[in-house]
Amino acid sequence: MVKRYIFGTPIDTEAVLNKPDASIWQADEETPFPILIDGKNIKINMNKGDIVYGLGETVRGINKRGHKYISYCTDDPKHTEDKNSLYGAHNFIMLNSTDETMETLGIFVDNPGRVTFDIGATDTNVINIEVTSGSYDLYLISGPSPIDVIKEFRALIGKSYIPPKWGFGYAQSRWGYKSSEDFREVYRKYKESELPLDAIYMDIDYMEGFKDFTINRETFPDFEELVKELSDEGVRLVPIIDGGVRIEEGYETYEEGVKNNYFCKDENGDDFVVGVWPGDCHFPDMLNDEARRWFSLKYKFLLDKGIRGFWNDMNEPAIFYSRKNLKKALEKAEDYKGRSLDLHEFWELCGTFEGLQNNPEDYKSFYHNYHGMRVNHEDVHNLFGYYMTRGASEAFKELLPDEKVLMFSRASYIGMHRYGGVWMGDNQSVWSHLGLNLRMLPSLNMCGFLYIGADMGGFGCDTTEDLMLRWGALSMFMPLMRNHSALGTREQELYRFPESKALFRNLLTARYRLVPFLYSEYLKAVRDNAPMFSPLGFFYGKDMIARECEDQLMIGDSAMIAPVITQNATGRVVYFPESMKEIIFRDGEYIEGKIYEKGHHYVELPLGEANIFIRDGYEIPIGKAVTSIDAVDSSSVEYVSCNWCSHKYEMLDD
Ligand code: GLC
Repeated sequence: MVKRYIFGTPIDTEAVLNKPDASIWQADEETPFPILIDGKNIKINMNKGDIVYGLGETVRGINKRGHKYISYCTDDPKHTEDKNSLYGAHNFIMLNSTDETMETLGIFVDNPGRVTFDIGATDTNVINIEVTSGSYDLYLISGPSPIDVIKEFRALIGKSYIPPKWGFGYAQSRWGYKSSEDFREVYRKYKESELPLDAIYMDIDYMEGFKDFTINRETFPDFEELVKELSDEGVRLVPIIDGGVRIEEGYETYEEGVKNNYFCKDENGDDFVVGVWPGDCHFPDMLNDEARRWFSLKYKFLLDKGIRGFWNDMNEPAIFYSRKNLKKALEKAEDYKGRSLDLHEFWELCGTFEGLQNNPEDYKSFYHNYHGMRVNHEDVHNLFGYYMTRGASEAFKELLPDEKVLMFSRASYIGMHRYGGVWMGDNQSVWSHLGLNLRMLPSLNMCGFLYIGADMGGFGCDTTEDLMLRWGALSMFMPLMRNHSALGTREQELYRFPESKALFRNLLTARYRLVPFLYSEYLKAVRDNAPMFSPLGFFYGKDMIARECEDQLMIGDSAMIAPVITQNATGRVVYFPESMKEIIFRDGEYIEGKIYEKGHHYVELPLGEANIFIRDGYEIPIGKAVTSIDAVDSSSVEYVSCNWCSHKYEMLDD
């Protein structure tokens, strides 16, 4: 059952497509969990063993209890447990009780500004949601199980984005490929190493001066030929587009934006100036329909050159500095010049510069033209990345009505799932992020985001060979399987690890063998508004061990994964909530392993191997050992089952 309530005068985010009529909130409203609403605060009491699911892309566990999360799209590369916000703002949670007679309750707080979810952080058994602006649409959804609630919720917010199938191929990316030659070399080295490769991502270095919709012709004199040449070899190029437009006389995008008032304004009505990768920039007003369409149609520049995929970045929007605050900081430094600073002054000076980035005051000091109204950015902050991606997707429909274009974004809000996917931002090459990225998968699915993936190997800091291998064995299940890393970090293309080439080849072979299954599960998740990745508790809700499991996931309803996510381990303890058969991917082959009975078992998994477990009575398809996405053939698969198969596999394909 779905109910909608309106508090204050909310801004329409267009997250919900099928809005039910609003009811008037009654203090004694009957809900599965007791709720108290007092203006901007929503309080819900929980019992000890209740689980809180949801919140999409954020820190900590699948069970969100015990922390405070703030929905506020934030460019923060340090995804540590103490953080409250990452790149996405996904205001959907579900409460699920140990008492199976109790219904699961879903709560969606539709407000594009700052929303705080204190999930038992301050008061262990109380959820306190605070909507800073006090205006919001509240959706309460109740149903017998978490999956029922997800289906109802996703029916409200509309069908998830479907990428072109090649978006399921393995892709290489790195910030720092600076010329056509660099791209040719990546392609060549993959080929020489007999490692499959379906796409190479282009980071900001392909642009001239990091300006959107430009190409550095000195380093990419033959961009068009490069696109064609690689595409003839089955390798797509996927360029990045950033949220800020460089201020530069003679630069078309800048000049048109200024002339037509398409940029966000400051308090005085002047175009707001911030620093991002290109230096001083303006933000296109993604909330202004006309400006958004103008910016989005500019993707044509690259579509015309044969490009069929993009990633939208820095669209929280990230701010390195605002011109105003940078000026103040420099003046302060000037003041201190020649003086001997005491410790207090020294730290204050450091803080002044550190505080320039993503400064909360800056977000309050610029404005959008939203349906003719002047709206302060703070009140609609979480819509910027969503609308940027939505605009691009609408432009693709207009420009290439019969084609699917690959699109995913760093920042997002619920609603954006209809237009593209997300990657999990600037993770680090650390083991804890393997686990974190695994836990984000089901949480993102609940909120509608299905095309998802993490920077394989880790983006920041130096990766290690064993981490790469274990990351590969998890990423091979993610719809987006992309190896990406930051400038200055250890190079982590798979051919950089000559000792492990055969192991990486094995993991990629396993990936391509599983694409018929993964793509089919993806399409089912879209069709049925269901999760592709689920916590074990969704299937085994009465089993306390399954309910508490944070490092194993179900894929669709037929299989389970339990990747090794710790260093120096040759296997791990896996919990089997029922009997399941192990399929092992080794030396490019797949092997039917043993059937594990219900309970805990130590399962060996050497580096460079992967496994998946099939539920009792189910089967999954395993395809041929192909080396490119174009060679994947969902009609020539083998079905492998655990015991007698009573659940025939339903194969979906394009
Ligand atoms: C941001 C992106 C990252 C990219 C970098 C340079 O940090 O998240 O993926 O490589 O910018 O464009």
